[in-house]
Amino acid sequence: MAMAGSAIGLGNIWRFPYMAGEYGGAAFIVIYILCSFFLSLPIFFSEAVIGRRSRSNAIGAMKRLAPGSAWTVLGYLSVITPVIIVSYYSVVGGWSVDYLLKSFSLNFGQFVPTGPKVLLFNTVFLAVSAAIVALGVKGGIEKFSKFSIPLLFVLIVVILVYSVRMPGAGKGTEYLLRPDFSKVTPRTFAFALGQSFYSLSLGMGIIITYSSYVHKEENLMVSGVGTAVADLMFAILAGFAIMPAVFSAGIKPDAGPGLIFETLPFVFTRMGEASPLVGTAVAVMFFLTIIVAAMTSSISLLEVGVAYFVEEKKMKRPLACIVVFAIAWLLGLSSVFSQKAFGLTDAFSSNILLTVGALLVVLFVGWKMKKEDVRDEITDGGTRPGNGKLFPVVYFLIRYLAPVAVLVIFFSNFFL
Ligand code: PHE
Repeated sequence: MAMAGSAIGLGNIWRFPYMAGEYGGAAFIVIYILCSFFLSLPIFFSEAVIGRRSRSNAIGAMKRLAPGSAWTVLGYLSVITPVIIVSYYSVVGGWSVDYLLKSFSLNFGQFVPTGPKVLLFNTVFLAVSAAIVALGVKGGIEKFSKFSIPLLFVLIVVILVYSVRMPGAGKGTEYLLRPDFSKVTPRTFAFALGQSFYSLSLGMGIIITYSSYVHKEENLMVSGVGTAVADLMFAILAGFAIMPAVFSAGIKPDAGPGLIFETLPFVFTRMGEASPLVGTAVAVMFFLTIIVAAMTSSISLLEVGVAYFVEEKKMKRPLACIVVFAIAWLLGLSSVFSQKAFGLTDAFSSNILLTVGALLVVLFVGWKMKKEDVRDEITDGGTRPGNGKLFPVVYFLIRYLAPVAVLVIFFSNFFL
Protein backbone atom coordinates (compact mmCIF):
# COMPACT_ATOMS: atom_id res chain seq x y z
CA MET A 1 0.00 0.00 0.00
CA ALA A 2 2.85 2.37 0.81
CA MET A 3 4.45 1.67 -2.56
CA ALA A 4 1.12 2.24 -4.29
CA GLY A 5 0.77 5.45 -2.29
CA SER A 6 4.07 6.69 -3.60
CA ALA A 7 3.16 5.79 -7.16
CA ILE A 8 -0.33 7.26 -7.13
CA GLY A 9 0.07 11.01 -7.18
CA LEU A 10 -0.19 14.16 -9.19
CA GLY A 11 1.29 12.38 -12.20
CA ASN A 12 -1.84 10.23 -12.45
CA ILE A 13 -4.18 13.16 -12.07
CA TRP A 14 -2.72 16.02 -14.04
CA ARG A 15 -0.49 14.37 -16.61
CA PHE A 16 -1.85 10.99 -17.58
CA PRO A 17 -5.38 12.00 -18.67
CA TYR A 18 -4.03 14.79 -20.82
CA MET A 19 -1.32 12.67 -22.39
CA ALA A 20 -3.78 9.90 -23.19
CA GLY A 21 -6.05 12.41 -24.89
CA GLU A 22 -3.37 14.21 -26.84
CA TYR A 23 -1.21 11.29 -27.94
CA GLY A 24 -3.62 8.83 -29.48
CA GLY A 25 -6.33 7.83 -26.97
CA ALA A 26 -6.65 4.06 -26.65
CA ALA A 27 -3.53 3.67 -28.80
CA PHE A 28 -1.52 5.66 -26.24
CA ILE A 29 -3.02 3.70 -23.35
CA VAL A 30 -1.93 0.40 -24.92
CA ILE A 31 1.60 1.72 -25.48
CA TYR A 32 1.64 3.04 -21.93
CA ILE A 33 0.65 -0.35 -20.53
CA LEU A 34 3.37 -2.09 -22.56
CA CYS A 35 5.98 0.42 -21.40
CA SER A 36 4.92 -0.01 -17.79
CA PHE A 37 5.16 -3.77 -17.81
CA PHE A 38 8.18 -4.35 -20.02
CA LEU A 39 10.37 -1.39 -19.16
CA SER A 40 9.33 0.36 -15.97
CA LEU A 41 8.65 -2.82 -14.00
CA PRO A 42 12.17 -4.19 -14.59
CA ILE A 43 13.50 -0.89 -13.22
CA PHE A 44 11.17 -1.25 -10.25
CA PHE A 45 12.47 -4.79 -9.66
CA SER A 46 16.06 -3.53 -9.89
CA GLU A 47 15.47 -0.97 -7.16
CA ALA A 48 13.64 -3.57 -5.10
CA VAL A 49 16.57 -6.00 -5.43
CA ILE A 50 19.03 -3.34 -4.24
CA GLY A 51 16.83 -2.37 -1.31
CA ARG A 52 15.94 -5.79 -0.01
CA ARG A 53 19.38 -7.30 -0.62
CA SER A 54 21.14 -4.55 1.32
CA ARG A 55 18.37 -3.89 3.84
CA SER A 56 19.56 -0.28 3.84
CA ASN A 57 18.79 3.24 2.77
CA ALA A 58 20.02 4.20 -0.71
CA ILE A 59 23.50 5.36 0.34
CA GLY A 60 24.00 2.51 2.80
CA ALA A 61 22.90 0.09 0.09
CA MET A 62 25.70 1.14 -2.21
CA LYS A 63 28.21 1.04 0.64
CA ARG A 64 27.14 -2.51 1.46
CA LEU A 65 26.71 -3.94 -2.01
CA ALA A 66 29.71 -2.25 -3.65
CA PRO A 67 32.05 -1.10 -0.86
CA GLY A 68 34.60 1.53 -1.74
CA SER A 69 33.43 1.91 -5.32
CA ALA A 70 32.25 4.88 -7.33
CA TRP A 71 28.71 3.44 -7.13
CA THR A 72 28.18 5.42 -3.92
CA VAL A 73 27.49 8.30 -6.31
CA LEU A 74 24.26 6.48 -7.19
CA GLY A 75 23.44 6.36 -3.48
CA TYR A 76 23.99 10.07 -2.99
CA LEU A 77 22.05 10.92 -6.11
CA SER A 78 19.16 8.76 -4.89
CA VAL A 79 19.02 10.61 -1.59
CA ILE A 80 19.40 14.12 -2.98
CA THR A 81 16.84 13.85 -5.81
CA PRO A 82 13.78 13.17 -3.62
CA VAL A 83 14.57 16.12 -1.36
CA ILE A 84 14.67 18.37 -4.40
CA ILE A 85 11.43 16.92 -5.74
CA VAL A 86 9.55 17.16 -2.45
CA SER A 87 10.53 20.84 -2.23
CA TYR A 88 8.24 21.71 -5.16
CA TYR A 89 5.81 18.79 -4.87
CA SER A 90 4.76 20.11 -1.47
CA VAL A 91 4.02 23.50 -3.01
CA VAL A 92 1.29 21.79 -5.02
CA GLY A 93 0.18 20.10 -1.82
CA GLY A 94 -0.08 23.58 -0.28
CA TRP A 95 -2.19 24.92 -3.15
CA SER A 96 -4.50 21.96 -2.67
CA VAL A 97 -4.99 22.66 1.03
CA ASP A 98 -5.86 26.25 0.12
CA TYR A 99 -8.34 25.05 -2.50
CA LEU A 100 -9.90 22.53 -0.14
CA LEU A 101 -10.74 25.41 2.19
CA LYS A 102 -12.03 27.48 -0.72
CA SER A 103 -14.26 24.61 -1.82
CA PHE A 104 -16.55 25.16 1.13
CA SER A 105 -17.58 28.56 -0.19
CA LEU A 106 -17.07 27.63 -3.86
CA ASN A 107 -15.31 30.93 -4.21
CA PHE A 108 -11.97 30.13 -5.83
CA GLY A 109 -10.95 33.47 -7.25
CA GLN A 110 -7.83 33.91 -9.33
CA PHE A 111 -5.15 31.22 -9.03
CA VAL A 112 -2.14 32.76 -7.25
CA PRO A 113 0.75 30.27 -7.47
CA THR A 114 3.34 32.17 -5.42
CA GLY A 115 3.54 34.36 -2.32
CA PRO A 116 3.28 34.35 1.48
CA LYS A 117 -0.05 32.53 1.57
CA VAL A 118 1.46 29.75 -0.53
CA LEU A 119 4.32 29.58 1.96
CA LEU A 120 1.90 29.13 4.81
CA PHE A 121 -0.02 26.25 3.19
CA ASN A 122 3.16 24.66 1.84
CA THR A 123 4.58 24.65 5.38
CA VAL A 124 1.43 23.04 6.74
CA PHE A 125 1.43 20.35 4.07
CA LEU A 126 5.12 19.53 4.45
CA ALA A 127 4.91 19.52 8.25
CA VAL A 128 1.99 17.07 8.27
CA SER A 129 3.82 14.79 5.82
CA ALA A 130 6.96 14.92 7.97
CA ALA A 131 4.94 14.24 11.12
CA ILE A 132 3.49 11.06 9.56
CA VAL A 133 7.01 9.95 8.62
CA ALA A 134 8.15 10.70 12.19
CA LEU A 135 5.57 8.22 13.48
CA GLY A 136 7.59 5.46 11.84
CA VAL A 137 7.39 3.12 8.89
CA LYS A 138 4.76 0.87 10.45
CA GLY A 139 2.99 3.32 12.75
CA GLY A 140 3.03 6.27 10.35
CA ILE A 141 3.62 5.49 6.69
CA GLU A 142 1.98 2.06 6.48
CA LYS A 143 -0.95 2.96 8.67
CA PHE A 144 -1.67 6.12 6.71
CA SER A 145 -1.36 4.31 3.37
CA LYS A 146 -3.58 1.42 4.36
CA PHE A 147 -6.41 3.75 5.05
CA SER A 148 -5.78 6.41 2.42
CA ILE A 149 -5.27 4.29 -0.72
CA PRO A 150 -8.66 2.56 -0.53
CA LEU A 151 -10.16 5.97 0.29
CA LEU A 152 -8.57 7.46 -2.84
CA PHE A 153 -10.15 4.78 -5.01
CA VAL A 154 -13.56 5.34 -3.44
CA LEU A 155 -13.32 9.12 -3.89
CA ILE A 156 -12.20 8.96 -7.50
CA VAL A 157 -14.97 6.48 -8.39
CA VAL A 158 -17.60 8.74 -6.81
CA ILE A 159 -16.30 11.71 -8.79
CA LEU A 160 -16.22 9.56 -11.93
CA VAL A 161 -19.83 8.45 -11.53
CA TYR A 162 -20.86 12.06 -11.18
CA SER A 163 -18.66 13.27 -14.04
CA VAL A 164 -19.73 10.80 -16.73
CA ARG A 165 -23.38 11.66 -16.15
CA MET A 166 -22.92 15.35 -16.91
CA PRO A 167 -24.45 16.57 -20.18
CA GLY A 168 -22.04 16.25 -23.07
CA ALA A 169 -19.64 14.11 -21.03
CA GLY A 170 -19.36 11.64 -23.91
CA LYS A 171 -16.92 13.95 -25.67
CA GLY A 172 -14.54 13.52 -22.72
CA THR A 173 -14.63 9.72 -22.85
CA GLU A 174 -14.17 9.90 -26.58
CA TYR A 175 -11.15 12.17 -26.08
CA LEU A 176 -9.55 9.56 -23.85
CA LEU A 177 -10.42 6.48 -25.81
CA ARG A 178 -10.73 7.09 -29.56
CA PRO A 179 -7.65 5.37 -30.94
CA ASP A 180 -5.73 7.64 -33.25
CA PHE A 181 -2.81 5.84 -34.79
CA SER A 182 -1.65 8.92 -36.66
CA LYS A 183 -0.59 10.32 -33.28
CA VAL A 184 1.66 7.35 -32.65
CA THR A 185 5.19 8.50 -33.43
CA PRO A 186 8.57 7.83 -31.77
CA ARG A 187 7.75 10.75 -29.50
CA THR A 188 4.65 8.98 -28.26
CA PHE A 189 6.78 6.08 -27.05
CA ALA A 190 9.23 8.39 -25.33
CA PHE A 191 6.39 10.24 -23.58
CA ALA A 192 4.61 7.05 -22.56
CA LEU A 193 7.80 5.66 -21.13
CA GLY A 194 8.74 8.87 -19.32
CA GLN A 195 5.27 9.11 -17.84
CA SER A 196 5.11 5.51 -16.64
CA PHE A 197 8.51 5.97 -15.14
CA TYR A 198 7.55 9.10 -13.20
CA SER A 199 4.26 7.57 -12.21
CA LEU A 200 5.94 4.54 -10.63
CA SER A 201 8.30 6.85 -8.65
CA LEU A 202 11.40 5.29 -10.18
CA GLY A 203 14.97 6.56 -10.22
CA MET A 204 14.98 8.36 -6.89
CA GLY A 205 15.71 5.80 -4.24
CA ILE A 206 12.09 5.41 -3.12
CA ILE A 207 11.66 1.80 -4.10
CA ILE A 208 15.16 1.05 -2.76
CA THR A 209 14.23 2.51 0.62
CA TYR A 210 10.76 0.97 0.86
CA SER A 211 12.05 -2.45 -0.28
CA SER A 212 14.66 -2.41 2.46
CA TYR A 213 11.72 -2.88 4.87
CA VAL A 214 10.16 -5.76 2.89
CA HIS A 215 10.44 -9.22 4.50
CA LYS A 216 12.49 -11.94 2.88
CA GLU A 217 9.35 -14.07 2.55
CA GLU A 218 7.37 -11.38 0.79
CA ASN A 219 6.90 -11.92 -2.96
CA LEU A 220 8.82 -9.04 -4.49
CA MET A 221 7.44 -9.56 -7.97
CA VAL A 222 3.88 -9.52 -6.72
CA SER A 223 4.53 -6.22 -4.88
CA GLY A 224 5.87 -4.72 -8.09
CA VAL A 225 3.04 -5.93 -10.30
CA GLY A 226 0.48 -4.90 -7.67
CA THR A 227 1.91 -1.40 -7.50
CA ALA A 228 1.96 -1.06 -11.29
CA VAL A 229 -1.63 -2.29 -11.63
CA ALA A 230 -2.94 0.00 -8.87
CA ASP A 231 -1.11 2.96 -10.37
CA LEU A 232 -2.45 2.24 -13.84
CA MET A 233 -5.99 1.76 -12.62
CA PHE A 234 -5.91 5.02 -10.75
CA ALA A 235 -4.55 6.90 -13.77
CA ILE A 236 -7.36 5.58 -15.97
CA LEU A 237 -10.03 6.27 -13.34
CA ALA A 238 -8.67 9.81 -12.90
CA GLY A 239 -8.94 10.31 -16.66
CA PHE A 240 -12.61 9.32 -16.65
CA ALA A 241 -13.27 11.38 -13.55
CA ILE A 242 -11.75 14.55 -14.98
CA MET A 243 -12.11 14.72 -18.77
CA PRO A 244 -15.89 14.18 -19.07
CA ALA A 245 -16.47 17.09 -16.65
CA VAL A 246 -13.96 19.28 -18.47
CA PHE A 247 -15.58 18.62 -21.85
CA SER A 248 -19.06 18.96 -20.46
CA ALA A 249 -18.16 22.46 -19.27
CA GLY A 250 -16.77 23.17 -22.74
CA ILE A 251 -13.23 23.83 -21.50
CA LYS A 252 -9.97 22.95 -23.22
CA PRO A 253 -8.21 20.02 -21.57
CA ASP A 254 -4.72 20.82 -20.40
CA ALA A 255 -1.93 19.37 -18.33
CA GLY A 256 -0.23 20.72 -15.26
CA PRO A 257 -1.31 22.87 -12.35
CA GLY A 258 -3.66 24.85 -14.61
CA LEU A 259 -5.96 21.84 -14.98
CA ILE A 260 -6.50 21.41 -11.26
CA PHE A 261 -6.43 24.98 -10.06
CA GLU A 262 -7.92 26.92 -12.96
CA THR A 263 -10.00 24.65 -15.17
CA LEU A 264 -11.67 22.41 -12.62
CA PRO A 265 -12.67 25.15 -10.15
CA PHE A 266 -14.61 26.60 -13.04
CA VAL A 267 -16.42 23.28 -13.44
CA PHE A 268 -17.17 23.14 -9.70
CA THR A 269 -18.49 26.69 -9.70
CA ARG A 270 -20.83 25.79 -12.56
CA MET A 271 -22.05 22.73 -10.69
CA GLY A 272 -22.58 24.96 -7.68
CA GLU A 273 -24.79 27.31 -9.67
CA ALA A 274 -27.12 24.40 -10.36
CA SER A 275 -26.89 23.00 -6.84
CA PRO A 276 -24.56 24.52 -4.21
CA LEU A 277 -24.53 21.36 -2.16
CA VAL A 278 -23.45 19.14 -5.04
CA GLY A 279 -20.84 21.64 -6.24
CA THR A 280 -19.33 21.91 -2.78
CA ALA A 281 -19.41 18.17 -2.15
CA VAL A 282 -17.68 17.32 -5.43
CA ALA A 283 -15.07 20.07 -5.01
CA VAL A 284 -14.28 19.00 -1.44
CA MET A 285 -13.93 15.37 -2.49
CA PHE A 286 -11.74 16.34 -5.40
CA PHE A 287 -9.27 18.47 -3.46
CA LEU A 288 -9.19 15.93 -0.67
CA THR A 289 -8.21 13.33 -3.27
CA ILE A 290 -5.40 15.54 -4.54
CA ILE A 291 -4.12 16.21 -1.02
CA VAL A 292 -4.10 12.56 -0.01
CA ALA A 293 -2.53 11.45 -3.30
CA ALA A 294 0.16 14.12 -3.04
CA MET A 295 0.75 13.37 0.63
CA THR A 296 1.47 9.65 0.24
CA SER A 297 3.94 10.59 -2.51
CA SER A 298 5.58 13.30 -0.38
CA ILE A 299 5.87 10.88 2.51
CA SER A 300 7.81 8.46 0.31
CA LEU A 301 10.06 11.29 -0.85
CA LEU A 302 10.84 12.31 2.73
CA GLU A 303 11.43 8.76 3.91
CA VAL A 304 14.43 8.33 1.58
CA GLY A 305 16.40 11.09 3.36
CA VAL A 306 15.07 10.17 6.80
CA ALA A 307 16.18 6.54 6.38
CA TYR A 308 19.64 7.81 5.45
CA PHE A 309 19.99 10.01 8.53
CA VAL A 310 18.59 7.35 10.86
CA GLU A 311 20.71 4.49 9.56
CA GLU A 312 23.95 6.16 8.54
CA LYS A 313 24.10 9.12 10.93
CA LYS A 314 22.39 7.31 13.83
CA MET A 315 19.91 10.13 14.32
CA LYS A 316 16.64 9.56 16.13
CA ARG A 317 13.75 9.38 13.66
CA PRO A 318 11.97 12.54 14.83
CA LEU A 319 15.19 14.55 14.57
CA ALA A 320 15.90 13.10 11.10
CA CYS A 321 12.41 14.18 10.05
CA ILE A 322 13.03 17.70 11.28
CA VAL A 323 16.33 17.86 9.39
CA VAL A 324 14.85 16.62 6.12
CA PHE A 325 11.81 18.84 6.58
CA ALA A 326 14.08 21.86 7.11
CA ILE A 327 16.20 21.16 4.02
CA ALA A 328 13.12 20.60 1.84
CA TRP A 329 11.39 23.66 3.25
CA LEU A 330 14.40 25.90 2.59
CA LEU A 331 14.86 24.58 -0.93
CA GLY A 332 11.15 25.01 -1.49
CA LEU A 333 11.29 28.74 -0.82
CA SER A 334 12.45 29.24 -4.41
CA SER A 335 9.38 27.42 -5.79
CA VAL A 336 7.09 29.17 -3.32
CA PHE A 337 8.13 32.59 -4.52
CA SER A 338 8.97 32.02 -8.18
CA GLN A 339 7.01 30.11 -10.76
CA LYS A 340 10.07 29.99 -12.92
CA ALA A 341 12.02 28.26 -10.16
CA PHE A 342 9.11 25.83 -9.72
CA GLY A 343 9.19 24.91 -13.43
CA LEU A 344 12.96 24.60 -13.53
CA THR A 345 13.11 22.39 -10.43
CA ASP A 346 10.42 20.13 -11.89
CA ALA A 347 12.09 19.88 -15.30
CA PHE A 348 15.59 19.39 -13.91
CA SER A 349 14.55 16.68 -11.47
CA SER A 350 12.05 14.79 -13.63
CA ASN A 351 13.97 14.98 -16.89
CA ILE A 352 17.55 14.71 -15.73
CA LEU A 353 18.01 13.48 -12.16
CA LEU A 354 15.40 10.71 -12.37
CA THR A 355 16.64 9.35 -15.67
CA VAL A 356 20.28 9.31 -14.57
CA GLY A 357 19.24 7.62 -11.31
CA ALA A 358 17.23 4.95 -13.12
CA LEU A 359 19.97 4.30 -15.65
CA LEU A 360 22.55 3.75 -12.91
CA VAL A 361 20.14 1.45 -11.04
CA VAL A 362 19.62 -0.91 -13.98
CA LEU A 363 23.31 -0.86 -14.87
CA PHE A 364 24.17 -1.71 -11.27
CA VAL A 365 21.76 -4.63 -11.02
CA GLY A 366 22.29 -5.86 -14.58
CA TRP A 367 26.05 -5.56 -14.83
CA LYS A 368 27.64 -5.06 -11.41
CA MET A 369 25.67 -7.35 -9.07
CA LYS A 370 26.15 -11.10 -9.32
CA LYS A 371 23.45 -12.74 -11.38
CA GLU A 372 22.90 -15.34 -8.66
CA ASP A 373 22.25 -12.63 -6.06
CA VAL A 374 19.71 -10.97 -8.32
CA ARG A 375 18.02 -14.32 -8.94
CA ASP A 376 17.99 -14.99 -5.21
CA GLU A 377 16.04 -11.77 -4.56
CA ILE A 378 13.66 -12.11 -7.50
CA THR A 379 12.80 -15.68 -6.45
CA ASP A 380 12.63 -14.80 -2.73
CA GLY A 381 15.56 -17.04 -1.85
CA GLY A 382 14.58 -19.70 -4.38
CA THR A 383 11.17 -20.28 -2.82
CA ARG A 384 9.16 -19.13 -5.85
CA PRO A 385 9.52 -21.45 -8.83
CA GLY A 386 7.12 -19.25 -10.81
CA ASN A 387 9.37 -16.24 -10.41
CA GLY A 388 12.33 -18.49 -11.27
CA LYS A 389 10.74 -19.28 -14.64
CA LEU A 390 10.26 -15.59 -15.35
CA PHE A 391 13.72 -14.66 -14.15
CA PRO A 392 15.56 -15.00 -17.50
CA VAL A 393 13.07 -12.62 -19.10
CA VAL A 394 13.27 -10.11 -16.24
CA TYR A 395 17.05 -10.30 -16.22
CA PHE A 396 17.24 -9.74 -19.97
CA LEU A 397 14.97 -6.70 -19.66
CA ILE A 398 17.07 -5.29 -16.80
CA ARG A 399 20.38 -5.91 -18.53
CA TYR A 400 19.64 -4.85 -22.07
CA LEU A 401 16.27 -3.36 -22.80
CA ALA A 402 15.81 -1.06 -19.80
CA PRO A 403 19.16 0.78 -20.11
CA VAL A 404 18.51 1.46 -23.78
CA ALA A 405 14.98 2.64 -23.03
CA VAL A 406 16.16 5.00 -20.30
CA LEU A 407 18.77 6.47 -22.63
CA VAL A 408 16.04 7.01 -25.21
CA ILE A 409 13.90 9.00 -22.75
CA PHE A 410 16.92 10.94 -21.63
CA PHE A 411 17.84 12.10 -25.11
CA SER A 412 14.27 12.56 -26.24
CA ASN A 413 13.94 15.21 -23.54
CA PHE A 414 16.49 17.24 -25.42
CA PHE A 415 15.90 16.44 -29.04
CA LEU A 416 12.25 15.59 -29.66
N1 PHE B 1 4.58 8.85 -8.72
C1 PHE B 1 4.16 10.16 -8.39
C2 PHE B 1 3.01 10.64 -9.21
O1 PHE B 1 2.51 9.98 -10.07
C3 PHE B 1 5.21 11.12 -8.71
C4 PHE B 1 6.25 11.18 -7.77
C5 PHE B 1 7.31 11.78 -8.19
C6 PHE B 1 6.14 10.65 -6.53
C7 PHE B 1 8.30 11.89 -7.38
C8 PHE B 1 7.13 10.74 -5.71
C9 PHE B 1 8.21 11.34 -6.16
O2 PHE B 1 2.60 11.76 -9.00
